[in-house]
Amino acid sequence: MKTKKIAILGAGNLGEAIAKGIVNGGISKPEHVILTRRNTEKIKHLEADGFQISTDNSKAALADIVFLCVQPKQLESLLEEINPILKKGKQVLVSVITGVDLQTISSQLPKGIPVIRSMPNTAIAIGESMTCLCTNNASSDQLNEVEAIYKTLGSTLIIEERLMKAATVLGASGIAFFLRYIRAATQGGIELGFDADEAQKIAMQTARGAASLLIKDGVHPEKEIDKVTTPQGCTIAGLNEMEHQGLSSALIKGIKTSYERINSITK
Ligand SMILES: NC(=O)c1ccc[n+]([C@@H]2O[C@H](COP(=O)([O-])OP(=O)(O)OC[C@H]3O[C@@H](n4cnc5c(N)ncnc54)[C@H](OP(=O)(O)O)[C@@H]3O)[C@@H](O)[C@H]2O)c1
Repeated sequence: MKTKKIAILGAGNLGEAIAKGIVNGGISKPEHVILTRRNTEKIKHLEADGFQISTDNSKAALADIVFLCVQPKQLESLLEEINPILKKGKQVLVSVITGVDLQTISSQLPKGIPVIRSMPNTAIAIGESMTCLCTNNASSDQLNEVEAIYKTLGSTLIIEERLMKAATVLGASGIAFFLRYIRAATQGGIELGFDADEAQKIAMQTARGAASLLIKDGVHPEKEIDKVTTPQGCTIAGLNEMEHQGLSSALIKGIKTSYERINSITK
């Protein structure tokens, strides 16, 4: 089978992480991956790893799978630049761009170019992303191929596009929400007598353990909570106090507020 060429247009934080994941996950070799940005000095180090780097988006977009990883306001001019070389049946475009829908991208492309929209989170840098994907016009083979790339970078879920903003809040903003919990738990631990780094270590690993318990067995969180909450014990006392103070309610309201904001600032 012919080796697929992959282009990353806009090799910033996310673009570089995707490129490394593609190679580390054995999807492709670095010499088949080309990364672009205007200031290539900042990705010069990737050349030593065998990647191709360039400022020429049109040349790069001749690849089979083309990731669009620029900031939303940079997208229009990027699409204008690559438009003349895009050919039906040649490339699949994959956008990671927040708040830009499939229709908006397709309307700036020649007819029939398959586009996949994806929403990873920053844990993609360590291969632990939660990435949601959707498409209007890519074939299931093309979607499977792109999903396989993201699977090397964490977990994936194929969703309908109407849920993409919700996925942005729950998955991408969600990183910040969970990190704030870890910070608060760390502060609580310091009050109980731990040094900050000790408290953070306990909070981080406990958060990882809690998530792993659910991921491993696919159980409902309450089932694992029941195992920890002895009758009249300290855990249920603390947990109920957190709920009296509005823990679940605050989280749900925060998620809904982020969702309202994303709806007000993007199409
Ligand atoms: N961070 C997140 O949690 C997250 C999650 C999901 C999705 N996203 C989306 O992912 C996209 C990228 O995010 P990021 O954090 O990786 O941003 P970033 O670090 O700013 O990367 C964007 C890159 O695009 C390059 N660029 C700009 N114009 C270009 C052009 N005409 N041709 C080639 N390269 C160009 C910039 O480099 P030069 O200035 O050198 O050209 C920059 O390195 C954004 O649209 C964001 O909405 C982010």
